[in-house]
Amino acid sequence: MDTIEQIVILDFGSQYTQVIARRIRECNVYSVILPYSASTAELAALRPKGIILSGGPCSVYAKGAPLPEPDIFKLAIPVLGLCYGLQIMAHFLGGKVELGSKREFGKGTLVVQDSFCPLFANLPETLQVWNSHGDRITKLPAGFKSVAVTENSPYAAIEDRNRRLFGLQFHPEVAHTPRGKEILANFVHNICGCGKNWTMRHYIDQAVEAVRTQVDGQKVILGLSGGVDSSVAAALLHKAIGDQLTCIFVNNGLLRGRESQMVREVFGRHFRIQLRYADASKLFLRRLRHVTDPERKRKIIGKTFIEVFEAATKRAGKARFLAQGTLYPDVIESIPIAGNPAAMIKSHHNVGGLPKKMRFELVEPLKYLFKDEVRELGQELGLPREIVLRQPFPGPGLAVRVLGEVTPQRLGILRNADSIVIEEMKSSGWYYKVWQSFAVLLPVRSVGVMGDERTYDYTIAVRTVESQDGMTADWVKLPYDLLEKLANRIINEVKGVNRVCFDITSKPPGTIEWE
Ligand code: XMP
Repeated sequence: MDTIEQIVILDFGSQYTQVIARRIRECNVYSVILPYSASTAELAALRPKGIILSGGPCSVYAKGAPLPEPDIFKLAIPVLGLCYGLQIMAHFLGGKVELGSKREFGKGTLVVQDSFCPLFANLPETLQVWNSHGDRITKLPAGFKSVAVTENSPYAAIEDRNRRLFGLQFHPEVAHTPRGKEILANFVHNICGCGKNWTMRHYIDQAVEAVRTQVDGQKVILGLSGGVDSSVAAALLHKAIGDQLTCIFVNNGLLRGRESQMVREVFGRHFRIQLRYADASKLFLRRLRHVTDPERKRKIIGKTFIEVFEAATKRAGKARFLAQGTLYPDVIESIPIAGNPAAMIKSHHNVGGLPKKMRFELVEPLKYLFKDEVRELGQELGLPREIVLRQPFPGPGLAVRVLGEVTPQRLGILRNADSIVIEEMKSSGWYYKVWQSFAVLLPVRSVGVMGDERTYDYTIAVRTVESQDGMTADWVKLPYDLLEKLANRIINEVKGVNRVCFDITSKPPGTIEWE
Protein backbone atom coordinates (compact mmCIF):
# COMPACT_ATOMS: atom_id res chain seq x y z
CA MET A 1 0.00 0.00 0.00
CA ASP A 2 3.01 2.31 0.12
CA THR A 3 2.86 3.59 -3.42
CA ILE A 4 -0.57 5.11 -3.07
CA GLU A 5 -1.36 8.60 -1.75
CA GLN A 6 -2.65 8.28 1.75
CA ILE A 7 -4.01 10.17 4.70
CA VAL A 8 -3.06 9.03 8.19
CA ILE A 9 -5.64 9.31 10.94
CA LEU A 10 -4.25 9.34 14.46
CA ASP A 11 -6.76 7.72 16.78
CA PHE A 12 -7.30 9.37 20.16
CA GLY A 13 -10.12 7.03 21.08
CA SER A 14 -13.04 8.67 19.31
CA GLN A 15 -16.01 6.47 18.55
CA TYR A 16 -15.94 8.09 15.09
CA THR A 17 -12.34 7.30 14.08
CA GLN A 18 -13.36 4.58 11.65
CA VAL A 19 -16.04 6.85 10.26
CA ILE A 20 -13.38 9.46 9.45
CA ALA A 21 -11.37 6.80 7.62
CA ARG A 22 -14.40 5.75 5.63
CA ARG A 23 -15.33 9.31 4.70
CA ILE A 24 -11.82 9.91 3.37
CA ARG A 25 -12.00 6.73 1.32
CA GLU A 26 -15.34 7.84 -0.06
CA CYS A 27 -13.39 10.78 -1.49
CA ASN A 28 -11.33 8.14 -3.38
CA VAL A 29 -8.33 8.74 -1.16
CA TYR A 30 -6.77 5.89 0.82
CA SER A 31 -6.67 6.32 4.60
CA VAL A 32 -5.10 4.40 7.45
CA ILE A 33 -5.65 4.59 11.18
CA LEU A 34 -2.69 4.59 13.55
CA PRO A 35 -2.82 4.68 17.36
CA TYR A 36 -2.11 8.16 18.77
CA SER A 37 1.12 6.84 20.22
CA ALA A 38 2.66 6.14 16.79
CA SER A 39 6.10 7.72 16.64
CA THR A 40 6.83 10.63 14.32
CA ALA A 41 9.30 8.40 12.47
CA GLU A 42 6.65 5.72 11.96
CA LEU A 43 4.24 8.30 10.68
CA ALA A 44 6.74 9.98 8.38
CA ALA A 45 7.75 6.61 6.93
CA LEU A 46 4.26 6.25 5.47
CA ARG A 47 4.80 9.53 3.62
CA PRO A 48 1.20 10.63 4.14
CA LYS A 49 -0.18 13.55 2.15
CA GLY A 50 -2.05 14.68 5.25
CA ILE A 51 -2.70 13.86 8.90
CA ILE A 52 -6.03 13.96 10.70
CA LEU A 53 -6.18 14.00 14.49
CA SER A 54 -9.38 12.30 15.62
CA GLY A 55 -11.61 13.38 18.45
CA GLY A 56 -11.48 11.61 21.78
CA PRO A 57 -13.25 11.36 25.12
CA CYS A 58 -10.45 12.92 27.23
CA SER A 59 -9.38 16.41 28.20
CA VAL A 60 -5.89 17.43 27.07
CA TYR A 61 -5.17 18.31 30.70
CA ALA A 62 -6.31 15.02 32.17
CA LYS A 63 -3.67 12.81 33.75
CA GLY A 64 -2.60 10.21 31.18
CA ALA A 65 -4.48 11.96 28.35
CA PRO A 66 -3.53 10.50 24.98
CA LEU A 67 -1.12 12.90 23.30
CA PRO A 68 0.90 12.53 20.10
CA GLU A 69 4.59 13.26 19.73
CA PRO A 70 4.75 17.06 19.41
CA ASP A 71 7.09 16.74 16.41
CA ILE A 72 4.24 15.73 14.13
CA PHE A 73 3.51 19.42 13.62
CA LYS A 74 7.03 19.92 12.26
CA LEU A 75 6.75 17.42 9.43
CA ALA A 76 5.51 20.08 7.01
CA ILE A 77 2.54 17.80 6.25
CA PRO A 78 -0.96 19.34 6.41
CA VAL A 79 -2.78 18.52 9.65
CA LEU A 80 -6.49 18.68 10.41
CA GLY A 81 -7.49 18.39 14.06
CA LEU A 82 -11.07 17.42 14.83
CA CYS A 83 -12.56 18.33 18.20
CA TYR A 84 -10.09 16.83 20.72
CA GLY A 85 -7.62 16.88 17.80
CA LEU A 86 -8.09 20.62 17.51
CA GLN A 87 -7.49 21.03 21.23
CA ILE A 88 -4.28 19.02 21.00
CA MET A 89 -3.13 21.36 18.29
CA ALA A 90 -3.91 24.44 20.38
CA HIS A 91 -2.34 22.87 23.46
CA PHE A 92 0.95 21.98 21.75
CA LEU A 93 1.34 25.11 19.66
CA GLY A 94 0.93 27.66 22.42
CA GLY A 95 -2.80 28.32 22.59
CA LYS A 96 -5.06 27.81 25.55
CA VAL A 97 -7.69 25.15 26.16
CA GLU A 98 -10.09 25.52 29.04
CA LEU A 99 -11.99 22.87 30.87
CA GLY A 100 -15.58 23.35 29.82
CA SER A 101 -18.09 23.81 32.60
CA LYS A 102 -20.81 22.48 30.31
CA ARG A 103 -20.74 20.34 27.21
CA GLU A 104 -21.69 21.74 23.84
CA PHE A 105 -23.59 18.83 22.40
CA GLY A 106 -25.79 18.47 19.34
CA LYS A 107 -26.77 20.58 16.40
CA GLY A 108 -25.22 23.97 15.83
CA THR A 109 -24.97 26.56 13.10
CA LEU A 110 -21.55 27.41 11.78
CA VAL A 111 -20.95 30.80 10.21
CA VAL A 112 -17.91 30.92 7.95
CA GLN A 113 -16.21 34.28 8.30
CA ASP A 114 -13.29 33.81 5.97
CA SER A 115 -14.59 32.50 2.67
CA PHE A 116 -11.01 32.10 1.41
CA CYS A 117 -10.30 29.33 3.89
CA PRO A 118 -9.71 26.33 1.61
CA LEU A 119 -11.60 24.00 3.98
CA PHE A 120 -14.84 25.77 3.11
CA ALA A 121 -14.27 26.24 -0.63
CA ASN A 122 -17.53 25.94 -2.58
CA LEU A 123 -19.61 25.78 0.59
CA PRO A 124 -22.25 28.24 1.79
CA GLU A 125 -21.57 30.79 4.48
CA THR A 126 -23.76 29.05 7.05
CA LEU A 127 -23.64 25.32 7.65
CA GLN A 128 -25.36 22.92 9.99
CA VAL A 129 -22.78 21.12 12.15
CA TRP A 130 -22.67 18.57 14.95
CA ASN A 131 -20.86 19.34 18.19
CA SER A 132 -19.81 17.08 20.99
CA HIS A 133 -17.17 18.56 23.25
CA GLY A 134 -16.59 19.65 26.82
CA ASP A 135 -13.34 21.65 26.71
CA ARG A 136 -12.88 24.59 24.41
CA ILE A 137 -10.16 26.87 23.10
CA THR A 138 -9.93 30.26 24.75
CA LYS A 139 -6.73 31.54 23.13
CA LEU A 140 -5.38 30.78 19.69
CA PRO A 141 -1.79 29.68 19.17
CA ALA A 142 0.50 32.17 17.41
CA GLY A 143 0.04 32.15 13.66
CA PHE A 144 -3.56 30.91 13.85
CA LYS A 145 -6.78 32.78 13.17
CA SER A 146 -10.42 31.90 13.53
CA VAL A 147 -12.23 31.31 10.24
CA ALA A 148 -15.68 30.27 11.46
CA VAL A 149 -17.82 30.60 14.59
CA THR A 150 -20.85 28.97 16.18
CA GLU A 151 -23.28 30.42 18.73
CA ASN A 152 -21.07 29.13 21.56
CA SER A 153 -17.63 29.21 20.10
CA PRO A 154 -15.60 31.98 18.49
CA TYR A 155 -13.05 29.34 17.44
CA ALA A 156 -15.20 26.72 15.72
CA ALA A 157 -12.76 26.52 12.81
CA ILE A 158 -9.19 27.76 12.91
CA GLU A 159 -6.25 27.80 10.53
CA ASP A 160 -2.62 28.61 10.09
CA ARG A 161 -2.67 28.64 6.33
CA ASN A 162 1.11 29.07 5.98
CA ARG A 163 1.91 25.97 7.97
CA ARG A 164 -1.18 24.21 6.54
CA LEU A 165 -2.57 23.44 10.01
CA PHE A 166 -6.36 23.41 10.42
CA GLY A 167 -8.75 22.60 13.22
CA LEU A 168 -12.49 22.08 13.59
CA GLN A 169 -14.34 22.11 16.88
CA PHE A 170 -17.27 20.16 15.39
CA HIS A 171 -17.43 16.72 13.76
CA PRO A 172 -17.46 16.91 9.94
CA GLU A 173 -17.37 13.10 9.68
CA VAL A 174 -20.84 12.39 11.11
CA ALA A 175 -24.07 12.39 9.13
CA HIS A 176 -25.45 15.19 11.37
CA THR A 177 -23.00 17.56 9.69
CA PRO A 178 -24.69 17.22 6.30
CA ARG A 179 -21.95 18.90 4.26
CA GLY A 180 -19.10 17.59 6.37
CA LYS A 181 -17.90 15.23 3.68
CA GLU A 182 -17.27 18.22 1.40
CA ILE A 183 -15.18 19.85 4.13
CA LEU A 184 -13.09 16.66 4.40
CA ALA A 185 -12.89 16.46 0.60
CA ASN A 186 -11.58 20.04 0.54
CA PHE A 187 -8.92 19.06 3.06
CA VAL A 188 -7.68 16.00 1.18
CA HIS A 189 -7.93 17.38 -2.36
CA ASN A 190 -7.36 21.15 -2.05
CA ILE A 191 -5.05 21.28 0.94
CA CYS A 192 -3.20 17.94 0.83
CA GLY A 193 -3.28 17.76 -2.96
CA CYS A 194 -4.51 14.15 -3.16
CA GLY A 195 -5.95 12.94 -6.44
CA LYS A 196 -8.82 10.45 -6.65
CA ASN A 197 -6.75 7.30 -6.93
CA TRP A 198 -8.42 5.00 -4.44
CA THR A 199 -10.92 3.06 -6.51
CA MET A 200 -11.87 -0.61 -6.34
CA ARG A 201 -10.45 -1.19 -9.78
CA HIS A 202 -7.13 0.16 -8.63
CA TYR A 203 -7.37 -1.91 -5.44
CA ILE A 204 -7.99 -5.09 -7.43
CA ASP A 205 -4.84 -4.55 -9.51
CA GLN A 206 -2.77 -3.91 -6.42
CA ALA A 207 -4.22 -6.80 -4.43
CA VAL A 208 -3.79 -9.24 -7.31
CA GLU A 209 -0.14 -8.25 -7.57
CA ALA A 210 0.40 -8.50 -3.81
CA VAL A 211 -1.22 -11.94 -3.57
CA ARG A 212 0.82 -13.28 -6.49
CA THR A 213 4.03 -12.05 -4.90
CA GLN A 214 3.17 -13.43 -1.47
CA VAL A 215 1.98 -16.81 -2.67
CA ASP A 216 4.67 -17.27 -5.30
CA GLY A 217 3.21 -20.26 -7.13
CA GLN A 218 2.19 -22.18 -3.98
CA LYS A 219 -1.25 -23.55 -3.12
CA VAL A 220 -3.83 -21.66 -1.05
CA ILE A 221 -6.81 -23.04 0.86
CA LEU A 222 -9.87 -20.95 1.72
CA GLY A 223 -12.84 -21.89 3.90
CA LEU A 224 -15.82 -20.60 1.94
CA SER A 225 -18.95 -19.99 4.00
CA GLY A 226 -21.05 -18.24 1.39
CA GLY A 227 -20.96 -15.03 3.47
CA VAL A 228 -19.86 -11.75 1.92
CA ASP A 229 -16.27 -11.71 3.18
CA SER A 230 -15.17 -15.23 2.30
CA SER A 231 -16.99 -15.02 -1.04
CA VAL A 232 -15.30 -11.80 -2.07
CA ALA A 233 -11.94 -13.13 -0.86
CA ALA A 234 -12.49 -16.25 -2.99
CA ALA A 235 -13.34 -14.25 -6.11
CA LEU A 236 -10.34 -11.97 -5.64
CA LEU A 237 -7.90 -14.80 -5.00
CA HIS A 238 -9.24 -16.73 -7.94
CA LYS A 239 -8.60 -13.74 -10.15
CA ALA A 240 -5.06 -13.55 -8.79
CA ILE A 241 -3.98 -17.18 -8.72
CA GLY A 242 -6.65 -19.24 -10.51
CA ASP A 243 -6.34 -22.95 -9.78
CA GLN A 244 -3.70 -22.50 -7.10
CA LEU A 245 -6.73 -21.69 -4.93
CA THR A 246 -8.89 -24.45 -3.47
CA CYS A 247 -12.04 -23.47 -1.61
CA ILE A 248 -13.59 -25.75 0.96
CA PHE A 249 -17.28 -25.40 1.61
CA VAL A 250 -18.58 -27.33 4.60
CA ASN A 251 -22.26 -28.19 4.74
CA ASN A 252 -22.96 -28.50 8.46
CA GLY A 253 -26.62 -29.34 7.93
CA LEU A 254 -27.53 -26.02 9.55
CA LEU A 255 -27.62 -23.89 6.42
CA ARG A 256 -30.56 -21.97 5.01
CA GLY A 257 -32.69 -23.46 2.25
CA ARG A 258 -30.86 -23.75 -1.12
CA GLU A 259 -27.67 -22.31 0.38
CA SER A 260 -25.35 -25.14 -0.63
CA GLN A 261 -26.80 -25.29 -4.17
CA MET A 262 -26.34 -21.54 -4.53
CA VAL A 263 -22.70 -21.59 -3.39
CA ARG A 264 -21.87 -24.50 -5.69
CA GLU A 265 -23.68 -22.85 -8.56
CA VAL A 266 -21.92 -19.49 -8.20
CA PHE A 267 -18.40 -20.62 -7.34
CA GLY A 268 -18.18 -24.06 -8.90
CA ARG A 269 -20.09 -23.58 -12.13
CA HIS A 270 -19.97 -19.83 -12.78
CA PHE A 271 -16.50 -18.87 -11.51
CA ARG A 272 -15.08 -22.36 -12.06
CA ILE A 273 -13.22 -22.17 -8.78
CA GLN A 274 -11.71 -25.43 -7.46
CA LEU A 275 -14.40 -26.12 -4.92
CA ARG A 276 -14.41 -29.00 -2.48
CA TYR A 277 -17.83 -29.64 -1.05
CA ALA A 278 -17.72 -31.41 2.29
CA ASP A 279 -21.21 -32.57 3.19
CA ALA A 280 -20.98 -33.33 6.89
CA SER A 281 -24.59 -32.59 7.72
CA LYS A 282 -25.27 -36.08 9.08
CA LEU A 283 -22.27 -35.92 11.40
CA PHE A 284 -23.23 -32.50 12.78
CA LEU A 285 -26.87 -33.46 13.32
CA ARG A 286 -25.89 -36.73 14.97
CA ARG A 287 -23.64 -34.92 17.43
CA LEU A 288 -26.33 -32.36 18.16
CA ARG A 289 -28.94 -34.99 18.99
CA HIS A 290 -30.61 -34.35 22.39
CA VAL A 291 -28.47 -31.25 22.97
CA THR A 292 -30.45 -28.23 24.15
CA ASP A 293 -27.89 -26.05 25.95
CA PRO A 294 -26.90 -23.14 23.65
CA GLU A 295 -23.24 -23.10 24.67
CA ARG A 296 -22.89 -26.85 24.20
CA LYS A 297 -24.44 -26.56 20.78
CA ARG A 298 -21.93 -23.89 19.79
CA LYS A 299 -18.98 -25.93 21.16
CA ILE A 300 -20.01 -29.09 19.34
CA ILE A 301 -20.47 -27.20 16.08
CA GLY A 302 -17.15 -25.36 16.40
CA LYS A 303 -15.20 -28.53 17.19
CA THR A 304 -16.87 -30.57 14.45
CA PHE A 305 -16.25 -27.81 11.92
CA ILE A 306 -12.53 -27.87 12.63
CA GLU A 307 -12.40 -31.65 12.28
CA VAL A 308 -14.27 -31.63 8.99
CA PHE A 309 -12.31 -28.68 7.63
CA GLU A 310 -8.99 -30.27 8.58
CA ALA A 311 -9.89 -33.54 6.89
CA ALA A 312 -11.04 -31.72 3.75
CA THR A 313 -7.79 -29.72 3.71
CA LYS A 314 -5.76 -32.90 3.85
CA ARG A 315 -7.74 -34.38 0.98
CA ALA A 316 -7.15 -31.22 -1.05
CA GLY A 317 -3.39 -31.84 -0.95
CA LYS A 318 -0.57 -29.99 0.71
CA ALA A 319 -1.03 -26.21 0.83
CA ARG A 320 1.25 -23.65 2.36
CA PHE A 321 -1.27 -20.84 2.71
CA LEU A 322 -4.64 -20.37 4.31
CA ALA A 323 -6.70 -17.41 3.10
CA GLN A 324 -9.08 -15.52 5.37
CA GLY A 325 -11.57 -12.74 4.77
CA THR A 326 -10.28 -10.58 7.64
CA LEU A 327 -11.45 -6.94 7.33
CA TYR A 328 -9.80 -3.67 8.34
CA PRO A 329 -11.86 -3.13 11.50
CA ASP A 330 -10.49 -6.47 12.81
CA VAL A 331 -6.89 -5.38 12.39
CA ILE A 332 -7.10 -1.83 13.70
CA GLU A 333 -5.75 -1.76 17.21
CA SER A 334 -8.60 -0.34 19.25
CA ILE A 335 -7.65 2.29 21.80
CA PRO A 336 -8.90 1.24 25.22
CA ILE A 337 -9.86 4.66 26.53
CA ALA A 338 -12.64 4.89 29.06
CA GLY A 339 -15.87 6.16 27.61
CA ASN A 340 -15.19 4.93 24.10
CA PRO A 341 -17.63 2.21 23.11
CA ALA A 342 -15.37 1.37 20.15
CA ALA A 343 -12.92 -0.05 22.66
CA MET A 344 -15.31 -2.90 23.37
CA ILE A 345 -15.89 -3.78 19.78
CA LYS A 346 -13.97 -6.83 18.83
CA SER A 347 -14.19 -9.60 21.35
CA HIS A 348 -16.95 -11.88 20.19
CA HIS A 349 -17.28 -15.21 18.63
CA ASN A 350 -16.18 -15.22 15.03
CA VAL A 351 -15.56 -18.55 13.37
CA GLY A 352 -11.81 -17.85 13.18
CA GLY A 353 -10.90 -20.57 15.70
CA LEU A 354 -8.85 -22.81 13.48
CA PRO A 355 -6.26 -24.60 15.57
CA LYS A 356 -2.70 -23.32 15.71
CA LYS A 357 -1.36 -26.74 14.82
CA MET A 358 -2.67 -26.27 11.28
CA ARG A 359 0.55 -24.58 10.33
CA PHE A 360 -0.47 -22.29 7.52
CA GLU A 361 0.78 -18.90 6.54
CA LEU A 362 -2.09 -16.46 6.24
CA VAL A 363 -3.25 -14.62 3.14
CA GLU A 364 -5.66 -11.81 4.00
CA PRO A 365 -6.49 -9.89 0.84
CA LEU A 366 -9.29 -7.82 2.39
CA LYS A 367 -7.50 -6.65 5.48
CA TYR A 368 -7.29 -3.04 4.29
CA LEU A 369 -11.00 -2.77 3.52
CA PHE A 370 -14.16 -1.76 5.32
CA LYS A 371 -17.32 -3.82 4.87
CA ASP A 372 -18.93 -1.44 2.39
CA GLU A 373 -15.74 -1.48 0.31
CA VAL A 374 -15.77 -5.28 0.34
CA ARG A 375 -19.29 -5.24 -1.08
CA GLU A 376 -18.20 -2.79 -3.78
CA LEU A 377 -15.21 -4.98 -4.55
CA GLY A 378 -17.46 -8.04 -4.83
CA GLN A 379 -19.65 -6.24 -7.33
CA GLU A 380 -16.62 -5.15 -9.32
CA LEU A 381 -15.46 -8.80 -9.40
CA GLY A 382 -18.81 -9.87 -10.82
CA LEU A 383 -20.32 -11.62 -7.79
CA PRO A 384 -24.14 -11.66 -7.81
CA ARG A 385 -26.09 -9.15 -5.73
CA GLU A 386 -27.55 -12.06 -3.77
CA ILE A 387 -24.10 -12.70 -2.31
CA VAL A 388 -22.61 -9.22 -2.17
CA LEU A 389 -25.55 -7.61 -0.39
CA ARG A 390 -26.45 -10.44 1.93
CA GLN A 391 -26.96 -10.01 5.63
CA PRO A 392 -24.64 -11.58 8.22
CA PHE A 393 -25.37 -15.20 9.12
CA PRO A 394 -23.92 -16.82 12.24
CA GLY A 395 -21.28 -19.55 11.97
CA PRO A 396 -23.38 -22.08 13.97
CA GLY A 397 -26.16 -21.47 11.46
CA LEU A 398 -29.77 -22.35 12.11
CA ALA A 399 -28.80 -24.32 15.24
CA VAL A 400 -28.91 -21.07 17.23
CA ARG A 401 -32.30 -20.25 15.75
CA VAL A 402 -33.92 -23.61 16.48
CA LEU A 403 -34.34 -23.22 20.22
CA GLY A 404 -34.08 -26.45 22.14
CA GLU A 405 -33.14 -29.64 20.35
CA VAL A 406 -32.07 -29.38 16.71
CA THR A 407 -33.81 -32.08 14.68
CA PRO A 408 -34.18 -32.43 10.90
CA GLN A 409 -37.92 -31.87 11.25
CA ARG A 410 -37.50 -28.61 13.21
CA LEU A 411 -34.79 -27.42 10.84
CA GLY A 412 -37.19 -28.05 7.96
CA ILE A 413 -39.89 -25.91 9.57
CA LEU A 414 -37.46 -23.09 10.27
CA ARG A 415 -36.02 -23.19 6.74
CA ASN A 416 -39.45 -22.80 5.23
CA ALA A 417 -40.35 -19.89 7.51
CA ASP A 418 -36.95 -18.27 6.94
CA SER A 419 -37.29 -18.45 3.15
CA ILE A 420 -40.59 -16.57 3.42
CA VAL A 421 -39.01 -13.88 5.63
CA ILE A 422 -36.14 -13.41 3.17
CA GLU A 423 -38.47 -13.37 0.17
CA GLU A 424 -40.85 -10.80 1.63
CA MET A 425 -38.07 -8.62 3.01
CA LYS A 426 -36.43 -8.59 -0.41
CA SER A 427 -39.56 -7.91 -2.41
CA SER A 428 -40.52 -5.03 -0.11
CA GLY A 429 -36.97 -3.59 -0.29
CA TRP A 430 -36.51 -3.82 3.50
CA TYR A 431 -33.92 -6.60 3.29
CA TYR A 432 -31.28 -4.16 2.11
CA LYS A 433 -32.11 -1.50 4.69
CA VAL A 434 -31.66 -3.59 7.83
CA TRP A 435 -28.72 -5.37 9.45
CA GLN A 436 -30.49 -8.71 9.81
CA SER A 437 -33.95 -10.18 9.37
CA PHE A 438 -34.72 -13.80 10.15
CA ALA A 439 -37.05 -16.34 11.69
CA VAL A 440 -36.54 -18.23 14.95
CA LEU A 441 -38.35 -21.46 15.84
CA LEU A 442 -39.53 -21.54 19.43
CA PRO A 443 -39.80 -24.86 21.27
CA VAL A 444 -43.31 -24.14 22.51
CA ARG A 445 -46.58 -25.22 21.01
CA SER A 446 -49.85 -23.44 21.36
CA VAL A 447 -53.46 -23.98 20.40
CA GLY A 448 -54.99 -22.50 17.28
CA VAL A 449 -57.81 -23.08 14.86
CA MET A 450 -57.44 -23.53 11.13
CA GLY A 451 -60.54 -24.04 9.04
CA ASP A 452 -62.69 -26.06 11.39
CA GLU A 453 -59.82 -27.84 12.99
CA ARG A 454 -58.02 -27.33 16.23
CA THR A 455 -54.24 -27.06 15.81
CA TYR A 456 -51.47 -27.50 18.34
CA ASP A 457 -48.30 -26.26 16.66
CA TYR A 458 -45.04 -24.34 16.96
CA THR A 459 -44.45 -20.59 17.12
CA ILE A 460 -42.14 -18.63 14.85
CA ALA A 461 -40.58 -15.39 16.09
CA VAL A 462 -39.56 -12.88 13.43
CA ARG A 463 -36.55 -10.72 14.32
CA THR A 464 -35.41 -7.69 12.32
CA VAL A 465 -32.69 -5.41 13.65
CA GLU A 466 -30.73 -2.41 12.53
CA SER A 467 -27.12 -2.08 13.66
CA GLN A 468 -23.75 -0.64 12.63
CA ASP A 469 -21.55 -3.50 13.72
CA GLY A 470 -23.66 -6.09 15.55
CA MET A 471 -22.46 -4.91 18.96
CA THR A 472 -25.58 -2.90 19.68
CA ALA A 473 -28.83 -3.08 17.78
CA ASP A 474 -32.37 -1.81 17.71
CA TRP A 475 -35.46 -3.61 16.46
CA VAL A 476 -36.82 -2.33 13.17
CA LYS A 477 -40.30 -0.85 13.06
CA LEU A 478 -41.51 -2.70 9.98
CA PRO A 479 -44.80 -1.49 8.49
CA TYR A 480 -47.88 -3.34 9.74
CA ASP A 481 -48.89 -4.53 6.28
CA LEU A 482 -45.50 -6.21 5.82
CA LEU A 483 -45.77 -7.83 9.27
CA GLU A 484 -49.26 -8.99 8.38
CA LYS A 485 -48.08 -10.53 5.14
CA LEU A 486 -45.18 -12.28 6.87
CA ALA A 487 -47.46 -13.75 9.52
CA ASN A 488 -50.16 -14.81 7.03
CA ARG A 489 -47.73 -16.49 4.71
CA ILE A 490 -45.82 -18.30 7.46
CA ILE A 491 -48.99 -19.63 9.06
CA ASN A 492 -50.59 -20.61 5.76
CA GLU A 493 -47.55 -22.06 4.04
CA VAL A 494 -45.38 -23.57 6.77
CA LYS A 495 -46.70 -26.83 8.07
CA GLY A 496 -46.24 -27.15 11.83
CA VAL A 497 -46.59 -23.43 12.64
CA ASN A 498 -49.79 -21.76 13.84
CA ARG A 499 -48.53 -18.58 15.51
CA VAL A 500 -46.08 -15.79 14.63
CA CYS A 501 -44.58 -13.25 17.05
CA PHE A 502 -42.47 -10.18 16.33
CA ASP A 503 -39.42 -9.63 18.54
CA ILE A 504 -39.20 -6.04 19.79
CA THR A 505 -36.09 -6.38 21.97
CA SER A 506 -33.09 -4.14 21.44
CA LYS A 507 -29.46 -5.15 22.11
CA PRO A 508 -28.61 -4.66 24.91
CA PRO A 509 -30.35 -6.12 26.84
CA GLY A 510 -31.17 -8.83 24.27
CA THR A 511 -28.69 -10.36 21.86
CA ILE A 512 -29.43 -10.44 18.15
CA GLU A 513 -29.52 -14.23 17.93
CA TRP A 514 -31.73 -16.03 20.41
CA GLU A 515 -29.03 -18.48 21.51
P1 XMP B 1 -25.41 -11.60 19.03
O1 XMP B 1 -26.39 -12.72 18.98
O2 XMP B 1 -24.21 -11.90 19.87
O3 XMP B 1 -24.87 -11.46 17.52
O4 XMP B 1 -26.04 -10.28 19.36
C1 XMP B 1 -24.15 -10.37 17.01
C2 XMP B 1 -23.87 -10.64 15.55
O5 XMP B 1 -22.99 -11.77 15.39
C3 XMP B 1 -23.61 -12.80 14.65
N1 XMP B 1 -23.23 -14.06 15.30
C4 XMP B 1 -22.22 -14.85 14.88
N2 XMP B 1 -21.39 -14.76 13.85
N3 XMP B 1 -20.34 -16.76 14.47
C5 XMP B 1 -20.46 -15.72 13.63
O6 XMP B 1 -19.71 -15.66 12.66
C6 XMP B 1 -21.12 -16.93 15.55
O7 XMP B 1 -20.98 -17.89 16.30
C7 XMP B 1 -22.12 -15.93 15.76
N4 XMP B 1 -23.08 -15.75 16.70
C8 XMP B 1 -23.75 -14.61 16.40
C9 XMP B 1 -25.10 -12.51 14.72
O8 XMP B 1 -25.80 -13.06 13.61
C10 XMP B 1 -25.11 -10.99 14.75
O9 XMP B 1 -24.96 -10.45 13.45
